[in-house]
Amino acid sequence: MSDTILVVGGAGYIGSHMVKYLRRHGFAAVVADDLSSGHREAVLGAPLHVGDIGDAGFVDALLGEVKPAAVMHFASFIQVGESVTDPAKYYRNNVTATQTLLDGMRAHGVNKFIFSSTAAIFGDPQYVPIDEAHPKAPINPYGRSKWFVEQMLEDYDRAYGLKAVCLRYFNAAGADPEGELGESHEPETHLIPLILQVASGRRPHITVFGEDYATADGTCIRDYIHVEDLAEAHLLALRQLLAGAGSARYNLGNGSGYSVREVIETVRKISGQPVTVVMGERRAGDPPALVADARAAREALGWQPRYADLDTIVGHAWAVEKRHLQP
Ligand code: UFG
Repeated sequence: MSDTILVVGGAGYIGSHMVKYLRRHGFAAVVADDLSSGHREAVLGAPLHVGDIGDAGFVDALLGEVKPAAVMHFASFIQVGESVTDPAKYYRNNVTATQTLLDGMRAHGVNKFIFSSTAAIFGDPQYVPIDEAHPKAPINPYGRSKWFVEQMLEDYDRAYGLKAVCLRYFNAAGADPEGELGESHEPETHLIPLILQVASGRRPHITVFGEDYATADGTCIRDYIHVEDLAEAHLLALRQLLAGAGSARYNLGNGSGYSVREVIETVRKISGQPVTVVMGERRAGDPPALVADARAAREALGWQPRYADLDTIVGHAWAVEKRHLQP
């Protein structure tokens, strides 16, 4: 059997860490990315096909040439706010283009798929920690786009035997422990890289979006999960799929939450740099607390996060960001 894995979106933040991790574990990774937000250099020399998976001709040629054993799909737009103001962009890329990819896979007899899903499919949590059985009630087009694909995948399995594992990330964070890869979104909207950019002097301050939530210190709580621990969960799911396992869905987090204030304190401690904080208004659509119950992934995949504490997550990301430290 082919040991080639097609990584769609493999030039992006999580995808590029996945590509490195796959190659380290004996797989041949081939990347497809339109480079709309990914970076050519992030594939670290893996074969890169530049194109759009919404283009059926591109997908057909790609699958015909690569003949992958499985496809991993990281190529989604991820900004909740933008999804509210421009839902067409989200449904076109995250749903319609994904369907084009899946139909190409059917045509080429590729029937193993790993999908990057999100905690945003749950909407406002009815309870935490959030397990797989939690009701799915996304509150924005981004979350809905991911939930649509999850449901599409159930139908494709039933009808066409396409086996898919949906991995619902909570807050992906951290960086390659070897410091070769990091997180670089444009614009950056995620909390940890923004605070690190304040610590390195690239930004004047971090704005805390609300301090009147019903949490211990009033700021929002999130479950930060190291990007390489996410990659490890994908690898375990991939091995199961290749061994003939059926479709599955898992929530991926550490099961412990940190508040925005705690994250800022951790960055101050790890970097040794001052971080100027400005208090701001709540950001629309932010639930007070999102924490994963990831027992199913631990039990079914044998997944054991290695970098579970926030100091390590921030430390790895700081190692990359501190190259920008202003003198
Ligand atoms: N935050 C700030 N200031 C900032 C940026 C963020 O206070 O400048 C706060 C947010 O309000 C939130 C927390 O930091 O409480 C984390 O925010 P992020 O934007 O880093 O992450 P989110 O929890 O909003 O979103 C992440 C992913 C989404 C995904 C979601 C799942 O980035 O793609 O988790 O709920 F949908």
